[in-house]
Amino acid sequence: MKARPPVETLSRTEAAAELADLAAEIARLDAAYYRDDAPEVTDAEYDALRARNAALEARFPDLIRADSPARRLGAAPAAGFAKRRHLQPMLSLGNVFSDAEFAEFCARVRRFLGLAEDAALIFVGEPKIDGLSISLTYEHGRLVHGATRGDGIVGEDVTANLQTLASIPPRLAGAAPALIEIRGEVFMTKADFLALNAEQAREGRKPFANPRNAAAGSLRQLDARITAGRKLSFFAYAMGEASESVAETHSGYLDRLRAFGFAVNPLSRVLAGEAQVCAFQAEMAALRAGLDYDIDGVVYKIDDLAWQRRLGFAGRDPRWAIAWKFPAERAETRLEEIRIQVGRTGALTPVAQLQPVNVGGVLVTRASLHNEDEIARKDIRIGDTVVIERAGDVIPQIIAVVLAKRPPAAAPFEFPTHCPACGSLAVRVADEVVRRCTGGLVCPAQAVERLVHFCARGAFDIEGMGEKTVAEFYADGLIRGPADIFRLAAHEAEIAAREGWGEVSARKLIAAIAARRRIPLERFIFALGIRRVGETTAKLLARHYGSFAHWRAEMQAAQMVGSEARSALGNILGIGPAIAEELVDFFAEARNRAVLDDLASLLEIEDVDAPGAASSPIAGKVMVFTGTLTTMSRAEAKARAEALGARVTDSVSRRTDYVVLGAEAGSKARRAAELGVAPLSEEEWRRLAGLEAVDARNAPRDALDNAGSDHEPAPIARTHDRKNA
Ligand code: IVH
Repeated sequence: MKARPPVETLSRTEAAAELADLAAEIARLDAAYYRDDAPEVTDAEYDALRARNAALEARFPDLIRADSPARRLGAAPAAGFAKRRHLQPMLSLGNVFSDAEFAEFCARVRRFLGLAEDAALIFVGEPKIDGLSISLTYEHGRLVHGATRGDGIVGEDVTANLQTLASIPPRLAGAAPALIEIRGEVFMTKADFLALNAEQAREGRKPFANPRNAAAGSLRQLDARITAGRKLSFFAYAMGEASESVAETHSGYLDRLRAFGFAVNPLSRVLAGEAQVCAFQAEMAALRAGLDYDIDGVVYKIDDLAWQRRLGFAGRDPRWAIAWKFPAERAETRLEEIRIQVGRTGALTPVAQLQPVNVGGVLVTRASLHNEDEIARKDIRIGDTVVIERAGDVIPQIIAVVLAKRPPAAAPFEFPTHCPACGSLAVRVADEVVRRCTGGLVCPAQAVERLVHFCARGAFDIEGMGEKTVAEFYADGLIRGPADIFRLAAHEAEIAAREGWGEVSARKLIAAIAARRRIPLERFIFALGIRRVGETTAKLLARHYGSFAHWRAEMQAAQMVGSEARSALGNILGIGPAIAEELVDFFAEARNRAVLDDLASLLEIEDVDAPGAASSPIAGKVMVFTGTLTTMSRAEAKARAEALGARVTDSVSRRTDYVVLGAEAGSKARRAAELGVAPLSEEEWRRLAGLEAVDARNAPRDALDNAGSDHEPAPIARTHDRKNA
């Protein structure tokens, strides 16, 4: 492969030229790999090209091309990550919680090895960080794959993301074995975690519950650039497959890992005998709160690798290692107040305001109370002394009330029956635990939360319109509804004059808003924040209706019970009656329709174009498949038709263009005949879909098995999937 100069030294022009080259090169390699099954480079070389592309795009975001390889990857998030089988399984660890249990573990080791009862055991103690374990495969010293643990046998290929971590060397230093799997923990420090959550809050995004979730969420990004922007750390601590022996002891192995260029936890220590282990456990427990990362115990591993091999595994746990867990971090404090938060959909959520207390190095001021039933069940009262427990989470749980310390005047908590933000009635729908404000559009709390959602990632994704800004602008009347956001340009000077703003920030915000005037239909639908309409449903709707105008008209028509539009809505696969009802209700409200039309007049809402559909004879047609197809499952036929731009529904109506009749087609065939809808045979459908004629007798066995079922066929496992490299 060509040697490429460091990204930092490139000029814009050079970067643009290289990005064009990379897009063409990666597209060509993809075609060779996918279409021709003839890979031209190794996976590592391919991954390096993608990593180079990501680095260039990160430095020059404005040069990102429409045909960027990173976008192609991002365009198929549902596909997720490729699967990777570990060469050696990644196992878990047994737990102990006390000196006595640890002594019992040592006794088992001695019995298994046939050692005397007082034989000395040498261990290595390593703090157990609660992050996520990953496996790195190096071939001839080069990092070729990195995968998450998954189920221990097969994990997810996150190579491109792991390549962005500074503590993971792309090449092992010194002499390396031909093949070696190295395992360790990816984690986020407490400081990086708090900084990330502060940023999430500024951007109006949901904070992560704990450093572990933040690390996992950051690593499992389909776009490696996002991972690159997060601060992730890594400690190496274990071995998988290796083509040759690299050490005689675990401590020697850790030395080799350091020599290879890995970070190894500096607190790891060789311990001779149980007394030293117990002292180490106490030492780590004392250090715990002051460490910059969360640990939930210490892992003890037999140092002698020959003994490790003899001890082997019992089920999923090694006999040669054990995790000695710390007790959960608990504290007692006073419950000062129960605040009720109002969410976007009007849900009233109680939050405990606590007298600030230090729990394991984190200052805790709030605890989650879940819902009103939970408060009643635990009989939690304002003024109570409560026991809180932090299981690595920032927001801890209330475990119990210390009844002995209850003030005599404390009364049972009465959950409000009215919204604290707008005073509207708050009601509980049968069999739901949440109570909801009925204030809808008049409720300011809901309005702000809805606006925050509107601007958030996945929706309009407007940089700078986070919770704080939205709440301020709302309170000052700068924005009342979503359309006002797109009228903010007229207030640029006013924004610049606001405290904490200035000309540059105001200009940036207005530019960020302008950049989002064009939006794909599915994101527009998701942004509206209609109850039960999440990203997946929004995508289904966008694909089904194709354009904003069509969707809008159909939703209006669906207001009539028994209308074709209503039944068509209910027939979209994946949209149940509850979702259909929410949509109908949303469109029934005149104020909602007014907001929609106002928005549509300010925006350019992109139609959904089905890939490869432009020239297809069934583009834009409405199709129904009925009866048993002999050459493909119904799920496959549906996917194929949709890929060609058709819309597939379950029932035949006047709007249906084609009905494909399989064997034993029943009532739908009759209905099609009644309505004069063109019937197609399976052969005709195949021709229309551009498929070769297939003799049913030669049809693949699994296609026949699937015939008539609407379930997606199980994805075909492939060991060498580059989709998400
Ligand atoms: S060794 C066969 N060492 O704990 C031994 N694991 O409960 C496998 N962990 O999935 C693991 N620190 O995520 C090992 N120093 C350490 C560890 C460690 C944290 C995690 C790891 C693993 C889990 C097992």
